[in-house]
Amino acid sequence: MIGQPKEGETILVSAAAGSVGSAVSQIAKAMGCRAVGISGGAVKCRLVTEEFNFDACLDYKSGDLGGQIKDAAPNGIDVYFDNVGGEMLDMVLALMNAKGRIPVCGVLSQYNAEDEYYGVTNTRLIFDKQLRLQGFLNSEFRDQWDRDRAELENLVASGKLKYRETVAQGLKSAPQAFIGML
Ligand SMILES: NC(=O)c1ccc[n+]([C@@H]2O[C@H](COP(=O)([O-])OP(=O)(O)OC[C@H]3O[C@@H](n4cnc5c(N)ncnc54)[C@H](OP(=O)(O)O)[C@@H]3O)[C@@H](O)[C@H]2O)c1
Repeated sequence: MIGQPKEGETILVSAAAGSVGSAVSQIAKAMGCRAVGISGGAVKCRLVTEEFNFDACLDYKSGDLGGQIKDAAPNGIDVYFDNVGGEMLDMVLALMNAKGRIPVCGVLSQYNAEDEYYGVTNTRLIFDKQLRLQGFLNSEFRDQWDRDRAELENLVASGKLKYRETVAQGLKSAPQAFIGML
């Protein structure tokens, strides 16, 4: 696992209400970590803590995300599971603990960038804090999928991994379902 979470560590997850973020946090919780999520709005944050078992959820749309992270993770961040990239990554770099790990799963803030990508400025902190930042694709781990699926099925069966499904019925609803998925 790229983030190498260890029992007792704090993991911060962006896009926490999404399919990826919600699974990451519940897996980390099952490994004994403290999980702090970032999501947009009170309704999603409630879902994140009440259904997806995060210890805390921070609403980045309500302002001062840095202050909120410091309050929710007083011992700093050991793993930042980054789904968003851009400005949020820049800010979190300053809050990482030494030897922290940042698996870069996606860059939601950048996919629709029309002019330029956001230029991360805090790169010096990667050196100062000896951070490890690594992008990855799930297809790189195809040879582990059977094993991983079995582990996930065990977590689902034990009630430690919950998920939500959206079901669209009928071919007519396919275009809207596809747009919604994107
Ligand atoms: N590496 C891989 O192999 C792999 C595989 C699958 C997916 N991914 C990536 O994993 C990430 C999460 O996927 P997902 O399917 O779980 O996503 P998702 O459920 O579609 O998440 C979308 C959510 O991300 C949040 N978001 C969007 N733009 C944002 C921004 N600028 N700043 C902060 N939050 C923003 C929004 O939530 P709020 O309403 O809470 O803001 C939005 O509802 C994506 O980047 C995706 O491309 C990577």
